[in-house]
Amino acid sequence: MDVYEALYTTRAMRRVRPDPIPTEVQDRILDAAIRAPSGGNMQQWRFLLVTDRDQVARIAPHYRAAIDFLWDTIYADRLAAVDADPDAPESRQLAAIKRSVDWAAANFETYPLLFFAFDRGDTTGGSIFPAVWSAMLAARAEGVGSSLTTILAVKADEVLEILGVPADKGWRMVCCVPMGYPLGRWGVAKRRPAHEVAYRDRWGEPLGREIPEPLWSPGA
Ligand SMILES: Cc1cc2nc3c(=O)[nH]c(=O)nc-3n(C[C@H](O)[C@H](O)[C@H](O)COP(=O)(O)O)c2cc1C
Repeated sequence: MDVYEALYTTRAMRRVRPDPIPTEVQDRILDAAIRAPSGGNMQQWRFLLVTDRDQVARIAPHYRAAIDFLWDTIYADRLAAVDADPDAPESRQLAAIKRSVDWAAANFETYPLLFFAFDRGDTTGGSIFPAVWSAMLAARAEGVGSSLTTILAVKADEVLEILGVPADKGWRMVCCVPMGYPLGRWGVAKRRPAHEVAYRDRWGEPLGREIPEPLWSPGA
C-alpha cells in the first residue's frame, strides 16, 4: 500500500468484525510498531496484545463504565448542546462520533484484538505515540481497522490488575487500541484544511498557500 493512502485513510475504525486476526498479521503490526522512534531510543515501552476472549470480556464492563463517565462529565455540556440543536453541523458530527463510540462500548467483547501500549519514565510524554500510530498504519496496510482509545485510564487500577501489570515498576497504561477487520469502508479522514491550522515564519501569519482539498484521494 502507498504510504499516503495509509496516512490519509487510517481513521477511528470502531465498527469491526469479530473474526480473529492471524498471528502473522499481528506479528507484522507489532514489529512495525517497535521500529518507531522514542526519545534517546530508550524504548521504555511495552505492548500487550489481548486476544483471549475471557480477558477481553473482563475488560469490557470497565470500558463501558469509562465511556459512561466520559459522556456524563467531559462531554456533558457538548451533548446538551447537541440535544438543543441537533441539526447544527457540530451537533451532527458529535452525534456521529457518539454513535460510533457507543457501538464500541456495546460490542467491546467482540473485538478480536486489544493492542495495549505502556510507557515508563518518559519525560517527553511523547515517546509512545509514534509506535502506536505505526501500529495503526501497519494495521491499515493489513486491512485491519483500529481505534486509539485513552479513556480506560479512568479505570486503570481495575484494568492493570486484570492484565497482571506489576504495580511497582512504573508502567503507565497509555492507550488501548481495539483492532479488527472493518464492517464499514475506508475513507479519507475529515479535518480542517492545513492552511487553517498552520502559519509561516511567525505565529498568525498566513501559510501563503491554500490547501482546500486533501492532496491525496482514492484513485488520484
Ligand atoms: C490521544 C487520543 C485519545 C483518544 N481517546 C479516545 C477514546 O478514549 N475513545 C475513543 O473512542 N476514541 C478516542 N480517540 C479517537 C478520536 O476520537 C478520533 O481519532 C477522532 O475522533 C478522529 O476520528 P477519525 O479519524 O475517524 O476522523 C482518541 C484519539 C487520540 C489521538
